[in-house]
Amino acid sequence: MKHTDLKQFKQRSEKISCLTAYDASFAKLIDSCGVDLILVGDSLGMVVQGGENTCSVTMSEMVYHTKAVARVCEKALIIADMPYQSYDDLSAALENAKQLISAGAQMVKLEGGTERQEVIQILVANEIPVCGHLGLQPQKVKKASDYKIQGKDKNSAEIIIEDALLLESLGVSTLVLECVPSSLAKLVSKQLSIPTIGIGAGKYCDGQVLVCFDMLGITQGKLPRFVRDFTVDTNGISMAIKAFVRAVKNQSFPSEKESY
Ligand code: KIV
Repeated sequence: MKHTDLKQFKQRSEKISCLTAYDASFAKLIDSCGVDLILVGDSLGMVVQGGENTCSVTMSEMVYHTKAVARVCEKALIIADMPYQSYDDLSAALENAKQLISAGAQMVKLEGGTERQEVIQILVANEIPVCGHLGLQPQKVKKASDYKIQGKDKNSAEIIIEDALLLESLGVSTLVLECVPSSLAKLVSKQLSIPTIGIGAGKYCDGQVLVCFDMLGITQGKLPRFVRDFTVDTNGISMAIKAFVRAVKNQSFPSEKESY
């Protein structure tokens, strides 16, 4: 798939399915199950490396994992996260994004709104497709209590809407909305022509993303309410992944109980 195909999903009201993958085996399986997008997320800092947050992930680690995924992925569009502090400096950001594209990503994802205007402009001007990320931004999370719903009050909701409109006007191809009320995600999704991909953002987003270890019941401990374990009621991992794709497409995931 090409990044320019993404808008067509929205135009024909087809929901986009996205899962994370960090290695060749998972990527091959996820790709073969018909998932539209694979995100090589910096969540690997937590689910692969066992860290407390995503901030310890380095550029060379992202390149390593992106290469492993890209080597086997045939259909899904690959998005690679730009890790913490890899896009603070503008010329370093361009070099780092180029490295991820050379590693096999077709798009890079970075967190933030207005404060990221210049870096997005530079990447887009250099024909590097960009995925935005608003709402809960894991690279800003320093302690467990920071993992909470964003955009609940009028003021913070307005900032998210303004940032989303700005990102679209800068040429961002798609936008991840994390942990925001469904009503806000609905408003943002309606106002944008680019697709929104939600995680903990309710059913009105144009697509849904989950961390593969979460939706396969591998992650231990208390999980956020937006996680559904797709291995319950299915028979094995590929059935679970196919059930996820089906549930996104027929809009039975996420339910009200899985939204804020
Ligand atoms: O790194 C990641 O897995 C992500 C998703 C939570 C959207 O950014």
